[in-house]
Amino acid sequence: MNMEATSPPVSGHGPDPSIQQVTVVGCGTMGNGIAQVFATCGYQVELVDLSAPALEKAINTIARNLDRVVAKGSLDQESRDAALARIHTGTSLAAAAQTADLVVEAATENRQIKLELFRQLDQLCPPPCILATNTSSISITDIAGATGRPSKVIGMHFMNPVPVMKLVEIIKGYNTDPGVTATIVEVSRRLGKIPVEANDYPGFVANRILMPMINEAVHTLFEGVAGVAEIDTVMKLGMAHPMGPLQLADFIGLDVCLAILRVLHEGFGQPKYAPCPLLVKMVSSGNLGVKTGKGFYAYQAGSKDLVVAPEFSGSV
Ligand code: CAA
Repeated sequence: MNMEATSPPVSGHGPDPSIQQVTVVGCGTMGNGIAQVFATCGYQVELVDLSAPALEKAINTIARNLDRVVAKGSLDQESRDAALARIHTGTSLAAAAQTADLVVEAATENRQIKLELFRQLDQLCPPPCILATNTSSISITDIAGATGRPSKVIGMHFMNPVPVMKLVEIIKGYNTDPGVTATIVEVSRRLGKIPVEANDYPGFVANRILMPMINEAVHTLFEGVAGVAEIDTVMKLGMAHPMGPLQLADFIGLDVCLAILRVLHEGFGQPKYAPCPLLVKMVSSGNLGVKTGKGFYAYQAGSKDLVVAPEFSGSV
């Protein structure tokens, strides 16, 4: 596999002149973060989702996150207001797509949904428009195959929380045009991010390495080697990770972790990627982490305290 780390971002250069309008599909955690960084950089953003209430919630989240940046002094009030004014929301994919130069799709992580979305986007977007996906593990080549423009389809994998994390993993599908890759590398740099290129194999780079680590942490708990807090403390204090692997799994969503592990397991056919039975059971039970209020930890709205979930609170 050929991976190329690219040079640090060029800051303060504003939007790439070849891209005027960016359409972001899906307004969940990743979609609203992606819309925020593009708008802050000066792009006109169309944020589209099937749900109008979800769009309203997303705009409120973006406004709050921009306020944090203003409070820290890294953005002035005028630039904050201008960034927010550059984001337009709507529920019509056709309206949002018709003048797009770049689409970044951040819809539900489901292969069938993405294939259907890309089939529609291919019909609706102008022919030169680049179609990027924020998928965390679904094959870019597979998604590109749903369109009549596979050379213009690419992976643009942001990390959560998008406004904070520096990396954009750029995944080249089998048919992605090198000129398209160069444009997306430049767009990412202008967002103030560090782009890293990877080829299209299961899990790309980020999740091929991250998910086996998380899965091993779940096995370590499952086998009674140590408790939740102990496992996370070892990795935080011993390896200087900002979050331990079990807290990170809760943050990402246990359903998302399981889905990615299944892509790795199926894609490589090796038992080392088989999801730990405890992870499978937790997902079946609906304990998905932060988003459901319980995973390895129990979460209280408004509290930043890290409390181990009752079922894991006894000593091992
Ligand atoms: N928007 C804007 N700013 C945010 C933010 C958001 N959503 N969330 C946090 N921040 C900012 C805060 O304002 C704060 O800024 P300053 O330090 O300048 O004051 C900074 O980020 C740190 O935030 P907090 O003090 O609230 O909390 P923290 O110090 O515990 O850091 C964290 C939070 C940045 C999330 C940190 O714990 C971290 O880096 N965790 C690991 C995150 C990670 O690994 N992400 C990748 C997940 S994998 C993925 O996304 C891809 C996939 O395919 C699964």
